[in-house]
Amino acid sequence: MHVAKCLRWCFVGLCVSVALYGLMDYDIFNSSKTTNSVWQSNQDVLSYQHGDSSNENDTDRKLHAYQRQYIQKGDPVNHIAFLKIHKAASTTIANIFLRYGIERNLVFALPRGKGGGGPSLTSRYFFPPPRNETYDISCGHVRYNRDEFSRVLPNDTMYIEVVREPFSLFQSFINCFYPKNVLDIPGNNPVLDYLSHTEHHIKYQGYIDLQQMAHEFNMMAIEFGFPEELFWDRNQTKIQSYLRKLDKEMNIVLVVEYFDESIVLMRRLLNWDLKDILYCKTHVRGYKRKTKSRLQFGSKEEKLYKERSYLDYALYDFFLHKMKEILKHQPPDFYEEVAYFRKTRIKTEQFCKSTTTDYQNMNEVLFEGSKWNKPFVINKRFYEHVFESAALTFKTLINKTTSPN
Ligand SMILES: *[C@@H]1O[C@H](CO)[C@@H](O)[C@H](O)[C@H]1NC(C)=O
Ligand SMILES: *[C@@H]1O[C@H](CO)[C@@H](O)[C@H](O)[C@H]1NC(C)=O
Ligand SMILES: *[C@@H]1O[C@H](CO)[C@@H](O)[C@H](O)[C@H]1NC(C)=O
Ligand SMILES: *[C@@H]1O[C@H](CO)[C@@H](O)[C@H](O)[C@H]1NC(C)=O
Ligand SMILES: *[C@@H]1O[C@H](CO)[C@@H](O)[C@H](O)[C@H]1NC(C)=O
Repeated sequence: MHVAKCLRWCFVGLCVSVALYGLMDYDIFNSSKTTNSVWQSNQDVLSYQHGDSSNENDTDRKLHAYQRQYIQKGDPVNHIAFLKIHKAASTTIANIFLRYGIERNLVFALPRGKGGGGPSLTSRYFFPPPRNETYDISCGHVRYNRDEFSRVLPNDTMYIEVVREPFSLFQSFINCFYPKNVLDIPGNNPVLDYLSHTEHHIKYQGYIDLQQMAHEFNMMAIEFGFPEELFWDRNQTKIQSYLRKLDKEMNIVLVVEYFDESIVLMRRLLNWDLKDILYCKTHVRGYKRKTKSRLQFGSKEEKLYKERSYLDYALYDFFLHKMKEILKHQPPDFYEEVAYFRKTRIKTEQFCKSTTTDYQNMNEVLFEGSKWNKPFVINKRFYEHVFESAALTFKTLINKTTSPN
C-alpha cells in the first residue's frame, strides 16, 4: 500500500472535528451528541468568554463575536524546519508541530534511531519521505546544516529555532540528566569544582580534550551548526559573521524567556489558528531532593560558566536583542493577542491537568472565536496528544508507516 495513503488512513481518527463547531454565538454545547443541532445546558462543557462579559446580553455577545471574527492573513505554512535544542522548551514546541502535522497528514522526517534525531538530516539517520513526496516538517533532533536541510525540504520551508539563557539551560541540563562527570565529583559543591577544574574532570585517557571541553559548554552553538573552528579560537569577527548568516537564514528565533510572545509571533508568521499553537508544559522533571542540595548554581558558578560558554552567550545575546527589537515594534493588537493566548492556554492547561475542580467532570472545553482563532473544542483526545513526547509520537508514526496495512 502507498505509504502516504496508509498515513492518511491511520490518522483519520486523529483529526479533530473542529469543523463541526462553526457557530460563533453559542453558550453551551451538548458534548454527548455528535451533531451540532442540539443546544442545551450541560455542565460537562464550559463556554469560555473572552474578556469581562458577565453583563452582556445576547445582542452584545453576537456583536462581539462578529468583531472578533477570525482573520486569516494568508495561506497557512505547512513546511517547517524546527531545530530542537535540549532543555530549551523544544519538546513543547516540537509537540505543536507534531499535532499540527498529524491533523493534516503532513510528511515528517522520522528518525531511525532511538534518540529522536541524528547528527544529520540524511537517509542514514532518517526514513526517506514516501515516493514522489518530500518532507513537510522536520522537528527531530538534528544539528543545523543549511545545505543538508535545503536538499530534503521544500524551498519555501520556514526555519525556526529557539534559544534560552545559557546558564539556566546549563542548570536545567544538569538537573535533568545528572551527568556522571559532575555528580561523581566528591565534596559539597561538585558544580563549582567541575567549572573551576574542568580540564581535570574532562581528561580522557590522560589527555585534555579541548574540543570536548568547548562542546560541553556550548550546547546551543553545536545545534546551531557553528563551524568547528569557532569552538577553538574566540575570533569575534568570525563569530559575529556566523550569527549574521544564521539571522539571514532563520525565519524566526524564539526566545524561551519571552516564550508566549515568541509563540504568538510564530503564529503570525505561519498564518496558523491560535488553537494550533496551544501548548501545555511538558518534559518538566522534578529534582531528586538528595542530589539537589549538592548542586549549587550561584553567581560564582555563573561567572565561570560564562567564560567557558562564550559561543552560547554570543548566540543568546544576539537573538535576545533581536527579539526585543521585534517586540518593540509590534502593534498594540499583538499584545492583546498575547494576553488572549496566555489566558486560553492557561485554561487549556487547567483542563488538561484537571487542576481546578471546575474542570474535573468535563469531557471537553469550548473556546469562543476571536480575531486569532475560529471557535474550537479541546477534548480528551487533545490532551492525550499534548503531553506525548516527540520520541513516542515518532515511534507511533513509524509503526504506522511501516505496518503492513
Ligand atoms: C443589550 O445591551 C445593549 C447595550 O449594552 C442595549 O443597547 C440593547 O438594547 C440590549 N438588548 C437587549 C435585547 O436587552
Ligand atoms: C512518481 O514520479 C514519476 C516521474 O516523476 C512518475 O513516473 C510516477 O508515476 C510517479 N509515481 C507516483 C506513485 O505518483
Ligand atoms: C521552489 O520549488 C518549486 C517546486 O519544486 C519550484 O517550482 C520553484 O521554482 C522553486 N522556487 C525557487 C525560488 O527556487
Ligand atoms: C579574525 O578573523 C578575521 C576574518 O577571518 C581575520 O581577518 C582576523 O585577523 C582574525 N583575528 C584574529 C585576532 O585572529
Ligand atoms: C511499535 O511497534 C513495535 C513492534 O511491533 C512495538 O513493540 C512498539 O510497542 C510499538 N510502539 C508504538 C509506540 O506503537
